[in-house]
Amino acid sequence: MNIPFPEDSKFSSFFNCSKTFLAIAITVMLCIPSLLVAQDSTAKAGAAAPAGGGDAAKGESIFKKECAQCHSVTSEKVVGPGLKGATSRNNLAWLTKWVKNSQAVIASGDPYAVKIYNDYGKTQMTSFANLSDDDIKGIFTYIDNAATAAPAAAVAGAAPAAGAASSSNGPSDLFMIVVVALVVVMLLVLGVLLVIVSLLSKAVSGGAEELVKEDFMTRLGKSLKGIAMDSSIRSATIWIFALLVLKATLDGLYGVGIQQGYAPKQPISFSHKLHAGEYKIDCNYCHTGVNRGKSAHIPSANICMNCHGVIKKESPEIQKIYTSIENNQPIEWVRVHNLPDLAYFNHAQHVNVGGVECENCHGDVGKMEVIQQRSSLTMGWCIDCHRKTEVNTKDNHYYDKLVQLHNGESKEALKVADIGGLECSKCHY
Ligand code: HEC
Ligand code: HEC
Ligand code: HEC
Ligand code: HEC
Ligand code: HEC
Ligand code: HEC
Repeated sequence: MNIPFPEDSKFSSFFNCSKTFLAIAITVMLCIPSLLVAQDSTAKAGAAAPAGGGDAAKGESIFKKECAQCHSVTSEKVVGPGLKGATSRNNLAWLTKWVKNSQAVIASGDPYAVKIYNDYGKTQMTSFANLSDDDIKGIFTYIDNAATAAPAAAVAGAAPAAGAASSSNGPSDLFMIVVVALVVVMLLVLGVLLVIVSLLSKAVSGGAEELVKEDFMTRLGKSLKGIAMDSSIRSATIWIFALLVLKATLDGLYGVGIQQGYAPKQPISFSHKLHAGEYKIDCNYCHTGVNRGKSAHIPSANICMNCHGVIKKESPEIQKIYTSIENNQPIEWVRVHNLPDLAYFNHAQHVNVGGVECENCHGDVGKMEVIQQRSSLTMGWCIDCHRKTEVNTKDNHYYDKLVQLHNGESKEALKVADIGGLECSKCHY
């Protein structure tokens, strides 16, 4: 490739070259925000799917909170019958009485009530005297809507989920591509500029005549070789490389013993996503220690039996619970979170006294199919939170005096660090 190099526009072709590169770089940079905005709006469009009438929406939230652990909206049995078609089996007045106090309806000798009560092995349904007639109407509006719209709802439900997933992954992937592209472009621009500089300096020293005869590629090669031979550039490169290796090694060493992301396979495929997420079973129902003591406790098989005595008995995974009880052997769950013995951590102090939510330390457990350690559990992690977090002093008279003292001395809110949260002996035996 021979680039002409006429007298009157000596270096114009090189400037044109670099202008093109700069133009590409600027275009790419201008593209980032618009691409991100595009991603965002598709995600929003997906999420804005209609959610049904007002009554049904309230009914849905009540249903999910109060009824879903025992009833499905289809005809599938859970603890009680599937509620699809409940409004055609009985009128709303009957259903309202039933939900408020099913035992009273059964006691009144209502034949339908007596029959299902017997059909379901005389399991007592919880009474919901606190629900208003409108609440109950809303629940059954929701059930009727859900039963007819089930397939459509499933699709509509899936779309925003996919949208959300792509919007959380999308920008970061896109971002990486853009960054790589930018770096490449920048390097090219840099190369061209270096060529220009070396040409200019040669031209100044009167070598322009012979330069005209050399072709572009040879000159580029020569100047790159010049850069590679330059001793200061060489030693800088070696230093940068050595520092990178050192950093990687140190990161590796600091990482020893840190189990962030650890998610071992468990003996029974117990899903928090299903139990805590979809069925909204309270964490305390199974982890009975969180408000009372140091350990949160892993539930014993008996707690599972409160429900699985009737639910999904035939599933092979549930059969494992039965086997464990028959053999009088506890289920051997694999421990996920594990502080070394030298550190003391207390759940009740954080959850009950401090009012810290489980998610702050364990992540969104309600979305985890398999439980995973989300936080690093290092000393730095504990300390960092104690420095940043304000003590929950509301309605806790234990702190009244301390707060008074503290407010006298400082304008900032009382942090955990101020009540001794950084003292070695608080966390080390
Ligand atoms: C603890 C489990 C449980 C909860 C919670 C529960 N139910 Fe029930 N429900 C049952 C059982 C069991 C039956 C079957 C009758 C019986 O054994 O009393 C039943 C029966 C019913 C029936 C009659 C079914 C039919 O097909 O005619 C309706 C309607 C009903 N429940 C509505 C509700 C609503 C609405 C809620 C939430 C506000 C709710 N239930 C919460 C266990 C429960
Ligand atoms: C139906 C019972 C049940 C409910 C409800 C429940 N869990 Fe669990 N959880 C378990 C069982 C069983 C294990 C042990 C098996 C496993 O790791 O999956 C466990 C394990 C865990 C672990 C890991 C323990 C370890 O080994 O380090 C954490 C953290 C946890 N649960 C948090 C929560 C949170 C937060 C909630 C509420 C959002 C919750 N759980 C609700 C039964 C339950
Ligand atoms: C408050 C009620 C409740 C408790 C307590 C409970 N579960 Fe469940 N569990 C359910 C419901 C509801 C389902 C969903 C059943 C379905 O899909 O029809 C379920 C499903 C499961 C499944 C999936 C079964 C399959 O084959 O689809 C497993 C495994 C399971 N539970 C294990 C456990 C274990 C282990 C415990 C004790 C740590 C436990 N559950 C405690 C209500 C409960
Ligand atoms: C301030 C952070 C923090 C909060 C808030 C927190 N945990 Fe933990 N959790 C931990 C740490 C740290 C461990 C490891 C404890 C150990 O190894 O001694 C742990 C361990 C567990 C375990 C394993 C069993 C055990 O006790 O060692 C379960 C189960 C658990 N947490 C459930 C919960 C639940 C449920 C909540 C909310 C009610 C909760 N945690 C809130 C930090 C926290
Ligand atoms: C998400 C924030 C958070 C994290 C992470 C956290 N803590 Fe705390 N911690 C608190 C809060 C808030 C309190 C204050 C509770 C209260 O009001 O007494 C507290 C209090 C304490 C106390 C009592 C301090 C005192 O002076 O009474 C100890 C001990 C403690 N934490 C240990 C730990 C350890 C060990 C870890 C790490 C494994 C840890 N914490 C991680 C928020 C956190
Ligand atoms: C808020 C709680 C907390 C406080 C305060 C605290 N530590 Fe720790 N420390 C921990 C935890 C948790 C670990 C375990 C971390 C791990 O395994 O990575 C730990 C680990 C250590 C270790 C062992 C390091 C290792 O890698 O095994 C030493 C040594 C230590 N702490 C010293 C101290 C000293 C000295 C102080 C006081 C200046 C102090 N700690 C204050 C929570 C605390």
